[in-house]
Amino acid sequence: MPDRVTLTDSRSGKVIELPLLHGTHGPPVFDMGRLYRELGYFTYDPGFLSTASCHSAVTFIDGEEGVLLYRGYPIEQLAEHSSFYEVAYLLMNEALPTQAQLDNFTTLISQHTMINESLKNFYRGFNHDAHPMAIMVGVVGSLSAFYHDSTDIHNPAHREIAALRMIAKMPTIAAASYKHSIGEPFVYPRNSYSYAGNLLHMMFSVPSEEYELDPVAEKALDLIFVLHADHEQNASTSTVRLAGSSGANPFACIASGIAALWGPAHGGANEAVLRMLEEIGDVSNIPTYIARAKDKDDGFRLMGFGHRIYKNYDPRARIIRNMCHEVLSELGNENDPLFELALRLEEVALNDDYFVSRKLYPNVDFYSGLIYRALGIPINMYTVMFAIARTVGWAAHWKEMIGEPQQRIGRPRQLYDGPAHRDYVAIEKRS
Ligand code: ACO
Repeated sequence: MPDRVTLTDSRSGKVIELPLLHGTHGPPVFDMGRLYRELGYFTYDPGFLSTASCHSAVTFIDGEEGVLLYRGYPIEQLAEHSSFYEVAYLLMNEALPTQAQLDNFTTLISQHTMINESLKNFYRGFNHDAHPMAIMVGVVGSLSAFYHDSTDIHNPAHREIAALRMIAKMPTIAAASYKHSIGEPFVYPRNSYSYAGNLLHMMFSVPSEEYELDPVAEKALDLIFVLHADHEQNASTSTVRLAGSSGANPFACIASGIAALWGPAHGGANEAVLRMLEEIGDVSNIPTYIARAKDKDDGFRLMGFGHRIYKNYDPRARIIRNMCHEVLSELGNENDPLFELALRLEEVALNDDYFVSRKLYPNVDFYSGLIYRALGIPINMYTVMFAIARTVGWAAHWKEMIGEPQQRIGRPRQLYDGPAHRDYVAIEKRS
């Protein structure tokens, strides 16, 4: 097969050859970089349906086959054998760690879990009813006002420490967002706990009582974090990359990723699923909501169904679905009516031609909210949980991009369809 694609412009008769690039997996990609210079055209691909925005060695997804690999390792194997710390090391460093490397990484993260005391003042600017994601966008962004001695993005050691700081501080910032919203004092991190354990401790312990960490909750959260750690060039990761491509402060870039994640079409879906289940309320109402989801004149969508890339099955959904049963029975929540409602909704949708023909399967967030609910995590913290885990992916992609010698600012083009030309009209002459 020739390693190029020949493009003939039938208008001008010009022919150009574009290099065909082959990744380790996935369809070949032809390099359009010269298209404008040689033929005078841009390409048009809103939503990036056929456009690779970069090359990357972090994560691979085959949406047709339902495959997800972190640095080549299948998500199923990592979910079964690994831990969030190990996966974080893998995503950040390209290989699984030795025991010594893992110990060192864990220690490094735990040494950066505290936040500057003055950062706490930022929380006071938020009302108690502020959405924790709003607080996250603000407080994580404000980290960019600190660490001036170590945010030279052209220095690899600075990039490393910035990435570690982000991963380490995210649970502390998240737990403080929650504590602020319920008016309880912030709880300091305890570094003897695991990453997930520390988050639970900071969210649920109070200074006046002993806190007992529930190992079922800790294990479940650790697994959810593994499943959410990265997902290649999704909306939030692409946002972090685009913000970072201008050379912006790394903490500000992560704040932009949090903002992109918040939307219900992305990370906000886990919260939207639970709100939808509460709204449906009873299995008898399922047909009404299925009909609404199918009605093009109704904006309602079945939240937690469908995925831009997975057109077979979201492999994370399979893992988390099994865990959902396990966690709910171990925590004694298996009779949660919302869980029963979710299973029934899933069954109805999976057998309905509208969903089957469009390959709309439940995604990871259809189930994650049910587990969070069983763990006692409030609904408005669900997307925050996602943000904590995804920080590792954002940091890994940001590091990969900035470390590239040829790194350039991301600058998409457009198809302009506004007014051609208009002369200014004085205000008194406008009708
Ligand atoms: N409910 C009802 N219909 C749907 C749904 C849904 N959840 N998702 C897609 N469709 C329909 C669309 O109306 C469209 O139908 P049509 O072909 O008759 O016009 C068709 O399926 C294709 O949908 P698109 O919007 O083109 O698919 P896209 O790839 O752009 O969107 C998305 C993917 C955003 C995930 C979408 O399926 C959705 O909104 N799902 C609900 C929100 C959700 O769960 N998001 C979480 C994503 S996973 C994550 O971020 C971890």
